Amino acid sequence: MILSGKNILVGVTGGIAAYKITYLVRHFIKANANVKVMMTKEAKDFVTPLSLSTLSKNPVFSDFVEGEDELWNNHVELGKWADFICIAPATANTLAKMVSGHSDNFFMATYLSADCPVYIAPAMDLDMYQHPTTHQNIEKLKSYGNIIIPAESGELASGLVGEGRMAEPENILDFIEKDLKKNLMLNGKKVLITAGPTYEAIDPVRFIGNHSSGKMGYAIAEAAAKNGAEVILISGPTALKIEEKGIKVQNVVSAEEMYNAVMQEYKNCDVFISAAAVADYTPTEIAEEKIKKSGNNLQINLKKTKDILLEAGKRKQHQFVVGFALETENEEENALGKLRKKNLNFIVLNSLRDKGAGFATDTNKVKIISEKETQTFNLKSKTAVAQDIIAEISKQLTLEK
Ligand code: CTP
Repeated sequence: MILSGKNILVGVTGGIAAYKITYLVRHFIKANANVKVMMTKEAKDFVTPLSLSTLSKNPVFSDFVEGEDELWNNHVELGKWADFICIAPATANTLAKMVSGHSDNFFMATYLSADCPVYIAPAMDLDMYQHPTTHQNIEKLKSYGNIIIPAESGELASGLVGEGRMAEPENILDFIEKDLKKNLMLNGKKVLITAGPTYEAIDPVRFIGNHSSGKMGYAIAEAAAKNGAEVILISGPTALKIEEKGIKVQNVVSAEEMYNAVMQEYKNCDVFISAAAVADYTPTEIAEEKIKKSGNNLQINLKKTKDILLEAGKRKQHQFVVGFALETENEEENALGKLRKKNLNFIVLNSLRDKGAGFATDTNKVKIISEKETQTFNLKSKTAVAQDIIAEISKQLTLEK
């Protein structure tokens, strides 16, 4: 979720739509954002600071000096804290003050000292909204870099019907999420990822598997989605769950199923990241009934599985293709061999000789190897490694343009 962990400063001014800001704050909190609210004195006539401080889980700011202890509210600090400001509702009076820089209250002083993006959701009555001054003010605010969330049409508090109603809280949320995504590294890209192990059935109850937890592939899927990509995650059996919106998960069990699922989606993807620990061999036959115990030895014949990544490399057209290599010796040389053989853009190498790297851990230590260079990264959480991988893909995609 793009708003997760973001610091949002909500600015409320004195219009009837102010009561709806309780819902807006709730939406931001539900999206895991940190929310602080500042309001003008006039806004307090329409919604109470207590409602907004309860919902935002933070004190509400209204004046430079507040409370019995006469505490000083630092407008500069508050502005710097915010990743963005959302002014809703923004009255005609506030728009005019913002245009002229008329700093006669805490709200305006904070707005003027903030250097983060500012979203403005105007709200006023029909004729006020249509007044040339309002139009001019809105255009000026846009030219200063502010982002306007257009007012909606409908019944207004005066009884008139038309444009001027503040955008509904869920539409404000939607507008901001979409706008933030526009600036993300992988916006508009379709990213296909494989993750986890595959299980190769021996009989109805047994299989050959491996210790892959899927954590690396899932972390990459989340990092890609956070950076604006539309993600398809083809997952072998894991205990992991995906929270992130924008990730479509397809569960598969065997290497054959994973191969088919990938080939189905490959043509339309922009990036393919093969993080799964795909079984290299699978039983030549699956016994129809459970194999009974008999004798001291049991032989199972295995045949090679299809190499999904090799095939993806062969079919490569516009796709950017990334593979993984888990090595125990001659690491870089082997990884480079795989990079060439499978026609990859880069390969992520983990060495089992590095402590904290590999399958079941929450950390990883990788090298990113391409024809041009080898980059060595420190031991990090898999989430941070995933971010490094996505950043490298984005960088190379930008260079390709
Ligand atoms: N891979 C795949 N399909 C397979 C086997 C591997 O897509 N059937 C992918 C993995 O997801 C990984 C990369 O290929 O990105 C690993 O390369 P590979 O040469 O298969 O490594 P190993 O399986 O470790 O091979 P080896 O035992 O020869 O080192």
